Amino acid sequence: MSAEEIVVAYHERTKHHVGRFAASLGYMDWATQPDPFRRYDGAALVRLPLPKEGRALPYWQLYITRSVTPVPLGIDSVSVFFRYALSLTAWKSAQGTRWALRANPSSGNLHPTEGYALLPGMDGLHERPGVYHYAPREHGLERRAEVVPGVWTKLTRALPEGSFLVGLTSVLWREAWKYGERAFRYCQHDVGHALGAMRVAAAALGWKLRLLHESDVAISLLLGLDRDGDDGGAEREHAELLAVVTPGAWDDPRGLTLPEEAVREVSAGRWHGKANVLSPHHGVEWPVIEEVARATSSPGTAFEDDFSACPSEGDLFESPVRSGSFTAERVILGRRSAVSMDASTAISAATFFRMLGRLVPTRGERQMPWDAIPWRPRIHLGLFVHRVTGLAPGLYALARDAAKLDALREIMRPDFLWQRPPSCPPGLPLYLLEEGDCRALAASVSCGQDIAGDGAFSLGMIADYLDSLLIHGASFYRNLFWEAGLVGQVLYLEAEEAGIRSTGIGCYFDDRVHEVFGIKSRDWQSLYHFTVGGHVEDVRLTTLPPYAWQP
Ligand SMILES: Cc1cc2nc3c(=O)[nH]c(=O)nc-3n(C[C@H](O)[C@H](O)[C@H](O)COP(=O)(O)O)c2cc1C
Repeated sequence: MSAEEIVVAYHERTKHHVGRFAASLGYMDWATQPDPFRRYDGAALVRLPLPKEGRALPYWQLYITRSVTPVPLGIDSVSVFFRYALSLTAWKSAQGTRWALRANPSSGNLHPTEGYALLPGMDGLHERPGVYHYAPREHGLERRAEVVPGVWTKLTRALPEGSFLVGLTSVLWREAWKYGERAFRYCQHDVGHALGAMRVAAAALGWKLRLLHESDVAISLLLGLDRDGDDGGAEREHAELLAVVTPGAWDDPRGLTLPEEAVREVSAGRWHGKANVLSPHHGVEWPVIEEVARATSSPGTAFEDDFSACPSEGDLFESPVRSGSFTAERVILGRRSAVSMDASTAISAATFFRMLGRLVPTRGERQMPWDAIPWRPRIHLGLFVHRVTGLAPGLYALARDAAKLDALREIMRPDFLWQRPPSCPPGLPLYLLEEGDCRALAASVSCGQDIAGDGAFSLGMIADYLDSLLIHGASFYRNLFWEAGLVGQVLYLEAEEAGIRSTGIGCYFDDRVHEVFGIKSRDWQSLYHFTVGGHVEDVRLTTLPPYAWQP
């Protein structure tokens, strides 16, 4: 089988059907529950100075390119970056158990994503460059490898002055433990969310962040994932992505790759630490996960789509957004999933349009976070609108790339209306498909979860999936989920800013969703669901500060 065929077979067999869920253990095997915190025993840990809370930067400003003065790179700004991207934001407890929540969300709160940084020497961290693993429980960086200054210079020669690198990996077992075969999808969603969280964190510091086109082999070498001696039987981490973070302007990012020789020299340097074992043993293995992970391994092909036909900021927002309710910090650190929705809160059409406008890349200097990825939108939205004042409830479609509008019309039900909602900004390709109360329908396609019907709106993220695989190869399967995760991360933050909440929904009946929108072709697939609305707090939980030394 070709890699693309393996992907398609994986995708089909991991669909949830009414009455038949994708293969999983079917119960929680608590004895093998994986540790959510990876540590490298023997690697020196530098605790980052916990940033003082209360940065005044308004949330809306994150999206305005070049509006935040870049903060110089140093241990304090690195600390803010990780605090906003991947740190703990609270401990929760109930009935004698305690669990941590983080700035980045995760399916089942299992957190398969591990964060890394390759940083130059700096005061308070180390005098020489190094490879670091981020330890969220400690808000610290574990020094995994020494990078000799000459190798650092060679490695970063093509990068803008003062840049550093960040990487993400997945411990696939952490999700597979609970979700079985479908877990690979969730790991990729989580990577997308973490990428979004890192892009937003960089924006809060006035920095840029862009995905690099590195192969998984290069990522493994740079992050030390391929070191047989260092894992001592511990669960392996799979390479996901590498990105460059740049404090200043960056005008020509096309085709940027790291020199292979320097990558090999980093790998051949001095490494420290042994990975911890996350589960004492694995009660069950899911070979299809390893298989799809191998099939989607990235060869690191460079490409850059043309964004010149995308709308401008003025086309997307009726009036440019230059005010808001909260600071960036409040929104980023306050982000939480709604566990239940109130079935009553409505949002205004203006709020709805603003949220959707944030999901469409702009031309020129693309709106954050879409400037982090080099491809035009491959994910479009099939919306279930329940409570948006001034908008008829019903099914809607948002073509995140207007060039895909005709294709979406063709694949969806022929009797859909394709009507522009009143007062919709001209650059927002949003269409009413069919009026009607779709609250029960939304909940039923989301595995019967009430949150999909009790919010203001919910949605399925519909990908032009097969075309993406044909053009970019099997590894792009992962990129599609990353894009879906980015969409989700923006919705999470936008919901916080609007004083409501949202929740990622990985559990949905794939083909039922396709039926609702009349999608018969296997070429288009719904890859993720989301719900946004007025939430109900769970008052049974106690909330504790994320770090014990925090007041
Ligand atoms: C990919 C993904 C899928 C998720 N699927 C569901 C879901 O089907 N149902 C649900 O109630 N929550 C779902 N969640 C929400 C998680 O349970 C939540 O992110 C996690 O418990 C951590 O809580 P937090 O988001 O408040 O940090 C999902 C989250 C992600 C990122």
